Amino acid sequence: MLKRQGLGVLFARYRAADGEEVDAWLTATDLRSHTLLVGSTGSGKSSLLETLARYHFRRHQGLALLDLHGDLFQRVAGWAMASGVPRLTLLDFTRPSELPAWNPLVRMPGVDTGRQVNLLISVLKRLFAGERAVASWSWGVAVEELMRFGLTACIESQVPVAFAELREFFLVPAFRRQVLATVSAATHAFFAAWGPREDMYLKGVMNRLDPLLGSESVRAFLGAKTSTVDPFRVVQRGETLLVNLARGNLGPAADVLGRLLMNALQLAALGREAVPREQRVPFSLLLDEAHALATPASGLEDLLVAGRKFRVYVTLAAQSLSLFPRGFRPHLLGNTQRQFFFRLPYEEAREVAPDITEPLGNVPREQLRPYDPVDDPLLAGPEEMAARAKELANLPVGACYWAIRGRPFKGRRIQLHPAKKPPFTLAEYRKTQAKAARYDGPRADELAIPSDATS
Ligand SMILES: Nc1ncnc2c1ncn2[C@@H]1O[C@H](COP(=O)(O)OP(=O)(O)OP(=O)(O)O)[C@@H](O)[C@H]1O
Ligand SMILES: [Mg+2]
Repeated sequence: MLKRQGLGVLFARYRAADGEEVDAWLTATDLRSHTLLVGSTGSGKSSLLETLARYHFRRHQGLALLDLHGDLFQRVAGWAMASGVPRLTLLDFTRPSELPAWNPLVRMPGVDTGRQVNLLISVLKRLFAGERAVASWSWGVAVEELMRFGLTACIESQVPVAFAELREFFLVPAFRRQVLATVSAATHAFFAAWGPREDMYLKGVMNRLDPLLGSESVRAFLGAKTSTVDPFRVVQRGETLLVNLARGNLGPAADVLGRLLMNALQLAALGREAVPREQRVPFSLLLDEAHALATPASGLEDLLVAGRKFRVYVTLAAQSLSLFPRGFRPHLLGNTQRQFFFRLPYEEAREVAPDITEPLGNVPREQLRPYDPVDDPLLAGPEEMAARAKELANLPVGACYWAIRGRPFKGRRIQLHPAKKPPFTLAEYRKTQAKAARYDGPRADELAIPSDATS
């Protein structure tokens, strides 16, 4: 019997070396570690994320889930509503009219302005990545300086500026003057020297910002001066934030919004330095398709290194390790304490197999020809490792190697139970709500009928 039995949720089956089938359980400590899920498409990663999210709900641990596809969001949101998760925020970018608002140009608590500006710059910079336009128009020192001072001014000013108003700030001198009236001397001095050179760089900036600010969801989410959702509060209080960034609907804006949110959540996590240890509520960041968010300047490495100290735990799911920037991979493997390896591309399977599998001496040797005598019925150590790599590259759906770092054994092959369907998905829930509103609510004319109208 495994020690874990009865402590958490049953999520998989494990076949012991002697052939006995044993139940595998997720326990509370699994929610207090960084986790890595890798595997080819359709191997079962998102389903495991769903199981993990449900377990968070059950244990009342806050989380932020970022989904770039949408189906995981739909199911997890369904579960969250069915489980009555308190303090739940849904950011569904496929439904701009229902989005709450966030203004990243409002001073973030406990973060200095320079750092906040860096966060925004690192995200905006990517809008210019890969650009092969005229050098002076692409992202360069001058453009960055202009953006940096612009953002600083909007944050410092006592006049609240919405992110979507950056356009007005740069292009409408009267509005800019109003904002600049209450900024620091250094910021003011920069804009006092505004001239034709700046005007030229500005064209390059607006070329890139305009399509972003023109997207309906971006305007809805970043268009207001006051925030109705605050990623900082979500982390500090351990709330639940589910984000649907379905790329199909959003296009490149999905990446920018995703990174913006992720960076804010990260800053909030690292901001826990200032929060006394016992007040740091456990919080998890669940990132499906994490490679799209773990870009070189994302700072996710810092979170993997320091997160545990702040009781913020990251779970990353991706189709292969090679999708991550090279320098990031050692962090992925070295700083995640729970690892699930699903079916992998063969090359990658060969690379990781020695790390997660070990020769157990129980793999039968296959006969090449039916009547050849087999003197040695089992594979020898090195042969078995080669066979394990092949096995890893051919795992069926829902099967994976589960490695818990710091244990004497390497990984265990388990078969995950399929994720249960939520009683209703978010879309279904909305449909019933809409129906109820249409048929059950009193109509305005019904209310207006005076009680003596029939007499
Ligand atoms: N443990 C399981 N047992 C049986 N079927 C499963 C299991 N896990 C997932 N599936 C099924 O496999 C399909 C793919 O699962 P899932 O979406 O979780 O894969 P994925 O690894 O996230 O793929 P992608 O990388 O394309 O997002 C789904 O239809 C799901 O129902
Ligand atoms: Mg998936």
